[in-house]
Formats: sequence, structure tokens, C-alpha cells
Amino acid sequence: MPEAKSSSAKKTSHKEQLPKKIGGYKPTQMLGHGAMGNVWLCHDESLDRMVIVKQMVPKLLDQDSFILRFQQEATILAHLNHPAIVVPYALWKESDGQLSLSMEFVMGKNLREILDACKQPPIWVVMAILHEIFLALSVVHRAGIVHRDLKPANLMIDKDGRIRLLDFGVAHVDKRNGDDLTLTMAGTQIGTGAYMSPEQTAGDEATPASDLFGMGIIASEMLLGENVFRGESLNQTFQNIRRLKIGKKAFPPETPKGLVKLVMRLLEKKPSKRPLSAADVADELSRLMRAYPRDLTPYLAEWVTAAVKGEKSAIEPETYPNHSKKLFIIGLVTGAAVSALAATLIHIL
Ligand SMILES: Nc1ncnc2c1ncn2[C@@H]1O[C@H](COP(=O)(O)OP(=O)(O)O)[C@@H](O)[C@H]1O
Ligand SMILES: [Mg+2]
Repeated sequence: MPEAKSSSAKKTSHKEQLPKKIGGYKPTQMLGHGAMGNVWLCHDESLDRMVIVKQMVPKLLDQDSFILRFQQEATILAHLNHPAIVVPYALWKESDGQLSLSMEFVMGKNLREILDACKQPPIWVVMAILHEIFLALSVVHRAGIVHRDLKPANLMIDKDGRIRLLDFGVAHVDKRNGDDLTLTMAGTQIGTGAYMSPEQTAGDEATPASDLFGMGIIASEMLLGENVFRGESLNQTFQNIRRLKIGKKAFPPETPKGLVKLVMRLLEKKPSKRPLSAADVADELSRLMRAYPRDLTPYLAEWVTAAVKGEKSAIEPETYPNHSKKLFIIGLVTGAAVSALAATLIHIL
């Protein structure tokens, strides 16, 4: 039986508080409670594996829009077939009307937990994380879905160093109710407000470009060591998101120029000035990372394990030497020599 080594903020240690069964599963731990419901770690005895069960908070049950959203989250997960997106197993209604969703258990840590242990990860870690998330986001956006709630707690790195995008709870909601709900939720849960795009803070509809802005905040948080948009109040945070510009000089000197430029473009206040798509950003990142091994997941896994223990990782990916400058000079010298020879020959003949 896999050991329950998961993530998350609030965990129940008292066995007696656990319900006997949730659906057909045996709950082993409450991993947390969020705006919409509780998250349980359970054992599926029939297949001897751990599963996650997300349940709606009973008081929300009578609110149609929340039920719709919960069902929508399950449907979105069921249709997004990508290794970075968790696989749902079943959606059912308990006898008391409570909705529950079971899904794949990701053994790992969410990015909030990781950043709490290590505020400023090394540049290669930042680039590797961003690259994987943008690849996943490009699949989400191509399916016509906007996540709308990107924040470190909704991203996980599993034990193999793979990124997972979680929590499609507020994704792609009917526009009629959507904006109001986003703001109501932000009001009750300040963390969400701190990663919103300027257009979302103004109550406008979120587009894929809004997800890019949210990722810009996450990227700047990893590079600067804090979310500089977070204010004392939700209002202050919204003001910062609408007005605050991070200058080039705020980034640590070792940050590659290309990465600084990219993050600044993600953080453009006007959606039309941001990169065209998540796929474009992933491409740009892979260009910036060409000196590194193509698959950084084993390094990332190793780094996360050390980081959450507060240790420094012994492993760092080796970079391949950059021959392009050398080749350019050789080319230039050869070209000049050949031209000189040709000129001499013409002169002699
Ligand atoms: N499939 C999963 N595997 C492991 N941990 C998970 C999984 N889904 C959620 N969690 C943990 O529970 C937390 C809350 O889950 P989330 O889906 O974001 O719900 P909420 O709507 O409550 O924010 C996450 O930050 C993560 O740490
Ligand atoms: Mg969440």
C-alpha cells in the first residue's frame, strides 16, 4: 500500500474524526478544506491504491451555481487528457445529497509548500517549472478552457519531478454568474486575489491572457522571493495588480535577460500586449533552456526533496557548452581568409 506522504496545509491527525467510508473508499487523512469543499486522502481497498476525494461543503449544496461548477470541474478533468492534469475516477452524490469527486492521488508537494520552504529557487528550477506549466496550459487553452485560479497552491510537483495543474473549480464558468462568483470567492479567500489579472480585478471576463498574467505573478514570486503584488488588504492587492510595474532592476542579476523580458511581457497590464499563447511562452522558455538537459524532471524531483527539508540539493543539471560563439568566430575568420585569397587570385590573374 503506498504510503500517504502528501501535501497540504491542514491535516487531521485524529483518526476518530475520520468518517468510516466516503463512497466506497476508506478515508485516511483530511488534506485540507478550501473554498468549495474538503479534500480527503482515501484508500481504495478494491484496487489497493490511494485516491483523492474532493467533497462539496454541505452549506454550498443548495447553491446551484456551486453544484454546477463542481460538476464542471469533474467534466473538465475528464476531458483534458494530459499527463500534467489529474485523472478523475468518479463523480457521485451521497445519500445526504453531498457531491463527491474521486481522482488520482498525486504524491508530491504543492508549489506553495515548496516556496514556503525555499522562497527563491535556483533559476533552472524556475525555468523548468514554468516550462512544464506553460506546456500544460497550452493544452488547457486549446480545449477552450481558462483556468482562472492559477496560484502556487494549485500547482503540484510529484515525486518524479512532474508538474500537475490542479483545481479547475472556477475554470470556464458561465459568464452570467462567473465574474461575481470570482470576486465573492476572492473576498473570502485573499490568496486567490493575489494572483489575479488586472482585467479580473475589474470584473471583466478572464481569457487565456489572464492565465498568462497569473503565471507572470507566480514567475516573479519565484525570481524575487515574494509576491510583490500582495497588499495589506484585497483592495490594496487589486490596486497593485492594476498599477505596480516590476522594473528590470528588481530581478536578481543572475536572471537571464530573456527570462526577465518574458516575465515582464507576461505582466503587461493590457492583455493584448502579453505573449500570444501559452505555447509561445513554452517555446521561448525551451529556447532559454537549450543549454540544459531536455528532461529536467529527475533533477527537479531531487531538488524538491531537498528543498522541503530545508537542505541544499547536491544535484544540479549540467549545462552543455555553448559552441555557437566559437563557431561564429571560426566562420568569420574563414570567410575573411577565403575573401582575401579570392581577391589576391583575381589581382594576380
Ligand atoms: N489529486 C491530488 N493529489 C494530491 N493532493 C491533492 C490533489 N488534489 C488536491 N490536493 C491537495 O489539496 C489542496 C486543495 O485542493 P484543490 O483541488 O486546490 O481544492 P480547493 O478548491 O479546496 O482549493 C491542494 O493544494 C493540494 O495540496
Ligand atoms: Mg485550490
